[in-house]
Order: sequence, then structure tokens, then C-alpha cells
Amino acid sequence: MTTAQRVLKMGMVGGGIGAFIGAVHRTAAMLDGGVRLVAGCLSSTPDRAHESGRALGLDPRRNYPTWEKMIEGELALPPQERVDFISIVTPNHVHFPVALACVRAGINVVCDKPLVHTSEQASQLISEVCSSGVVFAVTYNYSGYPLVKEARDLVARGELGRVRKVIVEYNQGWLASRLEAGGQKQADWRTDPARSGAGGAIGDIGSHAEHLAAYVTGLELTDICADLTTFVEGRHLDDDANLLLRFSGGAKGVLVASQIEIGHENDLRLRVFGDAASLDWRQEEPNALILRPQGQPERVLRRGNDYLGQAAKDASRLPSGHPEAFFEAFANVYRNACRAIRAGVGGLDAPSAFDFPGVMEGARGVHFIEKTVQSARSDRKWTDARFSPAL
Ligand SMILES: NC(=O)c1ccc[n+]([C@@H]2O[C@H](COP(=O)([O-])OP(=O)(O)OC[C@H]3O[C@@H](n4cnc5c(N)ncnc54)[C@H](O)[C@@H]3O)[C@@H](O)[C@H]2O)c1
Repeated sequence: MTTAQRVLKMGMVGGGIGAFIGAVHRTAAMLDGGVRLVAGCLSSTPDRAHESGRALGLDPRRNYPTWEKMIEGELALPPQERVDFISIVTPNHVHFPVALACVRAGINVVCDKPLVHTSEQASQLISEVCSSGVVFAVTYNYSGYPLVKEARDLVARGELGRVRKVIVEYNQGWLASRLEAGGQKQADWRTDPARSGAGGAIGDIGSHAEHLAAYVTGLELTDICADLTTFVEGRHLDDDANLLLRFSGGAKGVLVASQIEIGHENDLRLRVFGDAASLDWRQEEPNALILRPQGQPERVLRRGNDYLGQAAKDASRLPSGHPEAFFEAFANVYRNACRAIRAGVGGLDAPSAFDFPGVMEGARGVHFIEKTVQSARSDRKWTDARFSPAL
């Protein structure tokens, strides 16, 4: 952190006691010392929210019982005391009302994925972000890994040649049995269409896979042929998704998103095949990127080395050999979004200018989920998946 850097005031909705990703957001946001948590409505009920805020040492005046009270309370403060941004880390169904209220109030937002439930909601958010000019980030955190940025640079520089095929897999096994029947918190809402949205595994992790493939290859997805299955009896959403993809320019792809693959933990893997070389990256081994040029031995690129490009170097904090992983990648999304907030640059252009996923990528993810479900319901017909939101 430079001495000139302004410490930003963070507010949080969700992420209370017993929650999963909220603590990751707080750690990631504060990793570089440029953010401080000052306000929150951390849980779904007022008592629990207060208890959660107390555990984190929040000022009682800014430990709010509901997110509505939080926005109202922050707006009543002098501008220099208010939160600079609010992170939304609730189950999916709460994202839209909170995000909309924040954007309308002129408050910058960091929202987890999938952004919202429907394309109509996503379009509304896009136009509100456009008119308010706030910074809006969506935590597709896998794009924050240094070697994912290196992979992106390699593709953009033409090291792979023309991209022919993309295989992206997100393999998990934690929902292989009916965990939700025992009330497990994270499984409970993820398998409920009213709180999760139209997609199960395809929404929860398939949306990450879609974003990772698009971020690295820059290819536009044009068509989807999707097969969604619910293997676990009594479940109402898909727990296994197998998709064929077509991209503009003729590249083909395969996307797998599964939560019933016993033995797999958080096995996100991206392979990209060009006509000159291929690359291979795995989230569980994030400090290595394998490049396989045609007719040559494979090369293993490692994080933290001078031979990497600037984007990968900028996204690293430790020298090579000291593993960096999930927290650091997540922190890179925050760091870039916070740079935009400090610079006062928001709206729809900020994400590409500062390299973080924005409301547009979030909306594209929602569109992807809808089109996948549409294809699967139409007996796996090829479905036009081009994303062109009405602005
Ligand atoms: N980017 C990632 O890698 C990643 C990983 C996990 C989860 N997620 C996303 O993060 C979000 C949260 O997931 P999770 O696994 O942490 O869920 P969780 O169930 O563990 O936690 C959700 C939290 O939100 C709170 N909450 C619910 N309704 C609220 C309300 N109205 N006001 C205030 N707080 C409320 C709950 O009390 C809880 O503290 C989801 O959108 C999920 O898809 C993203």
C-alpha cells in the first residue's frame, strides 16, 4: 500500500456467524491494508445480525438489524464517514434487492455470483449502474489468479495460435448425497429454486466455469447444447451439468459442472487448445500453468517468476515457491475494484479499465444459466446463447 492510498470503508450484507464466503471477502478485501470493515447487516435475522456484528467488533451504531436500515443509516451519516462500498454475500435471492438499493443510493457494490435470478433483473442493474456511475464488481474470483491472467495473456498474444477447443470443468462431490435434508446451511439454499435461482450446479459453479473460459479466451459463446441431471432423489435443481459449446470464430467447447462427482473437492480446470499450443490450469494447483507447444516438450510456468507477463506479476504478492491461492486471487478482484473506487471511476467501463469482473459479466452469467436451462428443457436442443443486453 502506498502512503497516498485512501483506506476504504467497507460494509457487508451477509457473511455472519456460520456463513462460508463472507469471511473470505473480508480477508480478501483487507489483505493489502487498504480496506476496513465499518458497518454490516451480517445475518438474516436482527438478533443473529447483531450477534455476528458484535463478534467482529462492529461499532454498535453501525451493526444494523436489516440491510434496509443499513443503507438508510449510512446515507444519514456525513459523506466522509459513510461506507465506500457494500459487499453482498448472502444467498442468491437477496442479491438483487440489496444491489439495486445500493446502486440507486450511489453506493459502490461488490456482489457475489450468480449476480441475480433473471436477465430482467440483470438488465435493470446494468442500466442503474450506467446512470449512477457507481463501481460494481462481481466476484468471479478465479479470474484473480496470477496464472489465469498469464493464460489470458498467452491466448491474446497468439501463443496458442487460433483457438479450436475449450474444455472447462468444475468438478465437486459434496452434494453427492442429500445433504440438504439434514439442514446443512449451504446445501439447503443452494438446492432451493426460490433462493438459488433456475440453476443448481450450473448456477453455483457452472457460472464460474463460464466466466473463466470467457476471461481467458476472450471468445464469445454463441450456442449451447445442455444436458442437466438431478441425480439425488428429492432434489429440485440440477446437480450435474454437461454442455457442448460453440464459440464465434468456429471454436468448440465442453463445460462440465457437477456436484455429485465423489472424490472431487474444488476441482476447477481449464484447458484451451489452439492450432499451435495448448494450456492447462487447475484451481487446486494454482501456482502452475502448463503450456504445451506443438512438437516441443511441455513447459510448466510457475507463479512469481520473472519470465511471466506484467499482469501475472502485478497479481502476485509472494516470491515463487511460497504458495498463493484462493485468498490472494480473491484479494486481486478487491484490489482492482478498490482502485476504481479510489479513482472515482465507475459505470460500465471501469471493469475492463481496472481488470475486475463487473455487472456486465454478472449479467452474462445469468444469461448463460438461463440459456443452459432452456436448452436442457427443450430436450437438449442447440440454443442461441449470444449475450446482447438491451441498454
Ligand atoms: N465466489 C465464490 O467462490 C463463492 C463461494 C461460495 C459462495 N459464493 C456465493 O456467495 C453467496 C453466499 O454463499 P455462502 O456459501 O457464503 O452462503 P451462507 O449460507 O454460508 O451465508 C449466507 C449469509 O447471508 C446471511 N443472510 C441471508 N439473508 C440475509 C439478509 N436478508 N440480510 C443479511 N444477511 C442475510 C445469512 O445469515 C448468512 O450469514 C452466494 O451468492 C454464493 O453463490 C461464492
